[in-house]
Order: sequence, then C-alpha cells, then structure tokens
Amino acid sequence: MFTTPLFTRGSQFWIFIFLTSVLFCQSVLGDADRIAQGKEITFDRKKGNCLACHMIDDGSLPGNTAPPLIAMKQRYPELDSLVSQISNPLDKNPNSLMPPFGLHNILDEDEIQKIAEYIHTL
Ligand code: HEC
Repeated sequence: MFTTPLFTRGSQFWIFIFLTSVLFCQSVLGDADRIAQGKEITFDRKKGNCLACHMIDDGSLPGNTAPPLIAMKQRYPELDSLVSQISNPLDKNPNSLMPPFGLHNILDEDEIQKIAEYIHTL
C-alpha cells in the first residue's frame, strides 16, 4: 500500500522515535505551562487573589491575615489536600476567613487544580 520510501522499515523506526520524543516533550512542557498558568491565576486580583491574605514568594503587596504559603510540598505531600483546602476551606475550619473557591464557584475545577499544582511547588 505505502510504497513511498518514507514508510520503509528503517524509517518507521525513526518516525516512532520522533513521535515518542514529541509526546515526551509535550508532557514535560505541559506541566510547566500549567504551573505558570496556576501562578497567574493565584496572583490575579480578579481570580484567586490569594495575595490579599497570603504571603507568596515573588508576589507583591501581600496581606498577612493568613499563614504564608511556604514549604507546601513538605506540609501537604498530597496534592489533593491542597485542592480541597482551596476548593472548600470550610471542611477543615468551618469559621475560615478563606473564600471557598470551589463551593462558591469563584474558580472552576481546572483553575483550582492549576493553582494547587503551582502552590505545591512552593
Ligand atoms: C480572605 C483571605 C484569604 C484569601 C483570599 C485566601 N486565603 Fe487561604 N487561608 C486564609 C486563612 C485565614 C487561612 C488559615 C486557615 C483557615 O482559617 O482556614 C488560609 C489557609 C490556606 C492554606 C493552608 C495554609 C497552611 O499553612 O496550612 C492554603 C494552602 C491556602 N489558604 C491557599 C490559598 C489560595 C491558593 C488562595 C487563593 C486561591 C487563598 N488561600 C486565598 C485566608 C485566605
């Protein structure tokens, strides 16, 4: 069927290697991209606005009504516990000052997931 030299046995191997490396790069760069987007949403005053209350490395004019977001990976080894803290802090503390970003649909699930992935790198 395919008689062009492109599909001879030898080149199939190289096409396979090429596609595998493209997929690999996409997943690595994809993660970096999500973390960068997460940082943007975290700092955006109209989105996460997390700096209103939290000190975060690299953020300007932070508030101090909440604990600084540092050493998150050590203190929250499970990414999911960060997601639930952001989505619904009332679960852990019914009197929390922190807005329940998921429960009140302030941010969507993907935005919360990206924020958690970024916060997890701190
Ligand atoms: C209105 C203030 C306020 C805003 C805005 C806010 N938080 Fe919080 N946050 C708090 C307070 C207060 C706590 C302390 C625990 C509690 O009372 O729930 C907290 C706790 C946390 C914790 C746990 C901290 C720790 O040291 O264990 C994380 C993680 C967190 N917030 C992430 C975020 C993220 C991410 C955003 C933005 C999407 C955000 N917060 C926005 C007030 C805020």
